[in-house]
Amino acid sequence: MSYLFGLIGYPAKHSKSPWIHEQFLKKQGEQGAYRIFETSPDLLKDKLQALKMIEIDGFNVTVPYKEEIIPYLDEVDSYASSVGAVNTVHVQDGKWIGYNTDGKGYVRSLLEEYPDTNLNKTRVLLLGAGGAARGIYRALAEAGAPVIDIANRTASRGEALRKLRCESTESAVLSLEKAEEGLSHYDLVVQTTSVGMTPNESDQIISLRNVSHNAIVSDIVYKPFETSILKEAKNRGARVLNGHGMLIYQAALAFEQWTETFVEANDIVTKFEQQLKGDTTC
Ligand code: ATR
Repeated sequence: MSYLFGLIGYPAKHSKSPWIHEQFLKKQGEQGAYRIFETSPDLLKDKLQALKMIEIDGFNVTVPYKEEIIPYLDEVDSYASSVGAVNTVHVQDGKWIGYNTDGKGYVRSLLEEYPDTNLNKTRVLLLGAGGAARGIYRALAEAGAPVIDIANRTASRGEALRKLRCESTESAVLSLEKAEEGLSHYDLVVQTTSVGMTPNESDQIISLRNVSHNAIVSDIVYKPFETSILKEAKNRGARVLNGHGMLIYQAALAFEQWTETFVEANDIVTKFEQQLKGDTTC
């Protein structure tokens, strides 16, 4: 059989997803294609109606449609529904079913890089409370993290995110200043904001002067290759996790959903990093 997958978003034409999914298809020995359906907001409804008419196996949803897609779906799985956003649609027997692989992709990349991590004992500090933070918060809470504190510039957004709490997770909402002061309490710091992203590469959301030497500091920003916060973390002797693995593993989880196979994607992360290093176009 030959699969057809795609991506709906705006803008979307510079997405890395076609390259990533072509790698998966090749690796799994499957036939298929991954198309970009760049769609401006005024055309979303018509585009989705047109997609219903073609034989597509599944598609990804990106900015700005991860919430807007929900009313067009026949079902939404419980995880995506609690996060309130869908990034993967699987077409099953003509039904559109929504999933969210962003946060779970982060957790998988963390465990691939640091397999000894025991999430049941990991005290987490989440920096940011936007869409990306929601998925990661819920995935870490479901994986058993006992503490996930949230530090965000706007406290009300942090409070809203805290409502995604699982019963076994303690969460406090902090200012960025308080988080910086109390950094030594955390085993894992997850930077989810756009601060430090190219072209503002020298920006950094907090200082790591109090970071614990055993901590893992991660940043979901994948451009620049090494963000300012990860450079500081390395200099202070902490372990680091960049955003490349999350990007590949959220895609791998979508591919696995569509094809009902398992993809071992570490080599694709390496290949992706080699490509990024040589990439001077954006
Ligand atoms: P995404 O879906 O990528 O997470 P988002 O929903 O717009 O994007 O969220 C962006 C996050 O980055 C928020 O936590 C935002 O903080 P606010 O809630 O206070 O807006 C954070 N953010 C963006 N720019 C920031 C900056 N210059 N300083 C601090 N936080 C910033």
